[in-house]
Amino acid sequence: MDYCTLGRSGFRVSRLTLGAMTFGAGTGIWQSIAGLDREQTTRMVALAVERGVNLIDTADAYSQGQSEQRVGEALTALGLDESRMLVATKVRLRTGSGPNDVGLGRSHILRTVETSLKRIGRDHVDLLQLHDRDALVPLAETLRALDDLVRQGKVRHVGACNFSAAQLERAHAITAASHGATNQVHYSLASRDVEHEIAAVAREYAIALMIWSPLAGGYLCGKYSADSTGSSTAAGRRSKLDFPPIDRDRVDPIVHELHAIAQTLEVTPAQVALAWLLGREATSTVIVGARNEQQLEDNLRASEIALAPDQRTRLDRIVAAARAVSLLDAAAARPRSRAGMTSKPSRALTGATKQRRVLMYAVTGIRGKVGGVVGRTLLSTGQRVRAVIRNADKGSDLKRTSRADSLTIACSLDSRARSCASLDLGGLQRPRC
Ligand SMILES: NC(=O)c1ccc[n+]([C@@H]2O[C@H](COP(=O)([O-])OP(=O)(O)OC[C@H]3O[C@@H](n4cnc5c(N)ncnc54)[C@H](OP(=O)(O)O)[C@@H]3O)[C@@H](O)[C@H]2O)c1
Repeated sequence: MDYCTLGRSGFRVSRLTLGAMTFGAGTGIWQSIAGLDREQTTRMVALAVERGVNLIDTADAYSQGQSEQRVGEALTALGLDESRMLVATKVRLRTGSGPNDVGLGRSHILRTVETSLKRIGRDHVDLLQLHDRDALVPLAETLRALDDLVRQGKVRHVGACNFSAAQLERAHAITAASHGATNQVHYSLASRDVEHEIAAVAREYAIALMIWSPLAGGYLCGKYSADSTGSSTAAGRRSKLDFPPIDRDRVDPIVHELHAIAQTLEVTPAQVALAWLLGREATSTVIVGARNEQQLEDNLRASEIALAPDQRTRLDRIVAAARAVSLLDAAAARPRSRAGMTSKPSRALTGATKQRRVLMYAVTGIRGKVGGVVGRTLLSTGQRVRAVIRNADKGSDLKRTSRADSLTIACSLDSRARSCASLDLGGLQRPRC
């Protein structure tokens, strides 16, 4: 197991963290996500320690506090002190029915941490994270409460979850104290939004990114995808709860590619997806979740896999192609674009024609270069996009002339088109605008 230092702190953790969201058996959404009892969680913590994991991530709200309780019981049963296993928890979500039993106000933070410490059975937590922003409370009040907890010795380091780039900058402007270390973010082959802004701001301020739902809630394992099983009847969280939400049409080609690479390496798709994340510059530690020991064993072995550059490129290309298709789909769903698809190209680049050219650009731009990969992706998408390709195929004059114009046009359209223009199509064709 490799280790890394979190942000500008002196906090060293394993590159894989054990996620405790499946620990305990709460009500509501936790019935779909969690369910593990004391013996199961203790066995999983023991396995993680044996493989070199030194951080568990839980939260006050997971299974209404039962996750923290199970973590505490496992640490006691296995005799693990902080030299063997560190604990990260969170505060922000509702913990009771009262008006101050939710959010990031001083009262809720200070009371919740006391409860968390009792459940975990220690006199401090190693990392206390804000589970999200709370727009109703001044950020300065929240950060001051965290600072007090650090001074009292009840919290070693503090972090955030799901902060945007702007929120990170704001928090940094209020306090740049060295114990502020992390931002937990959702990042996976199915969702790379983090790469746009958050990663850059985190790098600038030396804030470590801890990755949650690295397998898109299990979807990247392939068991829920019609592509791999011929059906999508696998039992598990995603059969009942779409969390984190994904666009299956867009993610299925990625799962297909994961299977192909996994077969070559004689590993599992989950291991390839996790190894891809471990190799990303933005990633500090990946929080692996599991429903049983077999899944955990599978996931922990990802730390032993190195993907070859061409395998990374294949994954990057399929993600870029899938993203292009979803942008096309969104553009084609707009009334103006439907008109554009049936009209002749016009000399005046306005209205429907603008939209038509954007669609043409994206299709011809990726089609000529990535060929089969894009073909597979497009086949898994809706009829509208296929109709666009047929149009492009027929209009050879458009193919010849569309590229340069369309790049410029894309920039003049709405924000979706702008992201289309800045799309990295597998590094093969970078727009100049
Ligand atoms: N800060 C936040 O806002 C936030 C949000 C979410 C999570 N988190 C943290 O991130 C951790 C991981 O999140 P996550 O549970 O969503 O991660 P994930 O890896 O995307 O999904 C984990 C789920 O996928 C399935 N799975 C995992 N490994 C598998 C394997 N090898 N083979 C087959 N199925 C497998 C299991 O569910 P099934 O067996 O039911 O399919 C497992 O519970 C959580 O424990 C939590 O600590 C933080």
